[in-house]
Amino acid sequence: MDLQLTGRVVLVTGGSDGLGAALVRTLAAEGARVAFCGRDEARLHAVATQAGDGPGEVLPQVADVRDPAALARFVDAATDRFGTIHALVNNAGASSTGPFEEHTDEVWQADLDLKLYAAVRASRLVLPQLRRAGGGVIVNSLAIGARAPGAGSTPTSVTRAAGLALTKALSKEFGPDGVRVNAVLVGLVRSGQWERAAAREKIGVEELYERMGQSSGIPLGRVGRAEEFADLVAFLLSDRAAYLTGTAINFDGGLSPVA
Ligand SMILES: NC(=O)c1ccc[n+]([C@@H]2O[C@H](COP(=O)([O-])OP(=O)(O)OC[C@H]3O[C@@H](n4cnc5c(N)ncnc54)[C@H](OP(=O)(O)O)[C@@H]3O)[C@@H](O)[C@H]2O)c1
Repeated sequence: MDLQLTGRVVLVTGGSDGLGAALVRTLAAEGARVAFCGRDEARLHAVATQAGDGPGEVLPQVADVRDPAALARFVDAATDRFGTIHALVNNAGASSTGPFEEHTDEVWQADLDLKLYAAVRASRLVLPQLRRAGGGVIVNSLAIGARAPGAGSTPTSVTRAAGLALTKALSKEFGPDGVRVNAVLVGLVRSGQWERAAAREKIGVEELYERMGQSSGIPLGRVGRAEEFADLVAFLLSDRAAYLTGTAINFDGGLSPVA
């Protein structure tokens, strides 16, 4: 299936590792022009090198998505280099969970700043361009906890539920302009965050994935691959998904208890 993404200008936040990095590589292989951000310059450039073999173009940009000015510079840099933006993937994030009573206001605020306000601001920055292009796409990387919050899942599950509401609200408001807005609810997927977790536990990452696959009750019996996430998002970004908006897809091997 030709996704016809050649020449499309796509912004990916959190593109220097894990799911976002896989998405940058996939989109570049599909011929898209991809601007992506993260906070670590070396990791950004490593992904740019990996993606450089594809027919597309990539623009790595240092930006902390919690900083409104840095987000604006990211969008400006992408527009200066590639022209009108067609799509945005709000992907930057990190897990924040644990016993509810231990979470201070600062913990809650930090999670909202990283995962909700950044998506709000980035969407607000690109929407005028998407509308000017006669349509466009936003995809929000969320988590299955948005629809099925478990014990000890705050603040992430609450922040992700807000992201789900944002997805639906924007799809309603901007559908008439041809802008589609969807979400991917991620379960457990191989990425940098799990590599770091394995290092902290002093075990091999494959051992951790094996354990997660067996103990988490994933019906398909394994954790997901970042490339599989990238395939789904590339489809959602393409005109092949032209009739999909306001929806959230579980990407979890069947793990979530709700559809
Ligand atoms: N993998 C999973 O199992 C899973 C499950 C549920 C939800 N998710 C969600 O999926 C998304 C991708 O996760 P991942 O597993 O791929 O994580 P990851 O491997 O840790 O990658 C996270 C990416 O976000 C970037 N990032 C983090 N904080 C940032 C900030 N303040 N400003 C700009 N970039 C920032 C990181 O780069 P720097 O650190 O260099 O800035 C990196 O590029 C996240 O939103 C995560 O919450 C993942």
